Amino acid sequence: MPINKDALDVWSELAPEWDAGIGRDGNVYWEILQKPTLEKLFAASRALPGGAPVHALDISTGNGLTARWLTSYLGGTGEYAGGCSSTESNESNESSERSEDKKEDKKEDKKEDKKVVVTATDGSEVMLGRARAWAAEHADVTPEQRALTFARLDATSPDDFAKFYAAPPSRPAFDAILMNMAIMDVPTLEPLAAALPHMLAVGGVFVGSLLHPVFITPRTRRLVEVVHDFDHVAGMDDRSVDSTFTTYKRSVRLDGYLHVAPWRGFAWPGQSRAQYYFHRPLHELFGVFLRGGQLALDGIEEPNFTPEQAAADPAASKRVEMSKNFTEFPIFLYFRLRRIK
Ligand SMILES: C[S@@+](CC[C@H](N)C(=O)[O-])C[C@H]1O[C@@H](n2cnc3c(N)ncnc32)[C@H](O)[C@@H]1O
Repeated sequence: MPINKDALDVWSELAPEWDAGIGRDGNVYWEILQKPTLEKLFAASRALPGGAPVHALDISTGNGLTARWLTSYLGGTGEYAGGCSSTESNESNESSERSEDKKEDKKEDKKEDKKVVVTATDGSEVMLGRARAWAAEHADVTPEQRALTFARLDATSPDDFAKFYAAPPSRPAFDAILMNMAIMDVPTLEPLAAALPHMLAVGGVFVGSLLHPVFITPRTRRLVEVVHDFDHVAGMDDRSVDSTFTTYKRSVRLDGYLHVAPWRGFAWPGQSRAQYYFHRPLHELFGVFLRGGQLALDGIEEPNFTPEQAAADPAASKRVEMSKNFTEFPIFLYFRLRRIK
């Protein structure tokens, strides 16, 4: 089976677990690291009072978390829930899917009244089903989030991207495009890089993010050294120590960076199947987007937990090896590209 298809099929299998772990509002990585970073990178893309609607595309939306966030952040308050009293779970989505077609028509009619128009896409239909269910009529999200539109887009397919090329007035160019934590999930970035200048408005931005390609690869070893510090009392024999405490010195060691083969790994505890990861050194990651001359790198972030945040987590204090404790070595890499011509 070609690696493209296999990599996507794994995500379809993982969709229920992913949805259960991420839910409506995301996990701790989203809340503490990803969302604040995205707020920074998209701050200038938000709708202006009385201004034209912001057009946004979410690539690899997963269960729709990032598309819901784009809707609320670019269009207004950044809040998630509200407007619906029901707390039905995302499992009961079948009837809502039946009315999806009718709903999509109504959405088209109303688009131009909105502050933001977000299209959520994913390569996996099963994952998209999960995202759709969070925007169904009964879902406990905002009315704007229920108005999301959905489409399948395999980020390795130039033909899929062509459907999103700007063709005004019916298909305006996008002001903001996001691919959150999925850059490392796709075996090629060429189709995305080729499509961005056709999809973005001049001045529009693309934000991508991934596991940090230096610090989080199978070729990176995390090391923990246990150091005993002794409190020497002046004038006493060196061996007569009256107090000690233990500190942990954390470091990383790499035995590969330029050439790291695709690998399969796990993103959450108890994950039923490993998914693929595709590593790129920084010159490859950015080179593919920059060589056409139409996109410029104009934002970069390396979010990580602070020592205080790590210390506040009881699980992290018990498990000295947890990546959360490696506060000097960022877990994620975020970058923003702007279409300049
Ligand atoms: C780690 S999840 C990230 C989901 C979401 N962006 C978030 O931050 O919550 C990776 C997503 O990439 C999707 N994906 C994997 N391969 C893809 C491809 N070739 N085209 C589009 N999406 C893909 C998966 O289905 C999955 O939803």
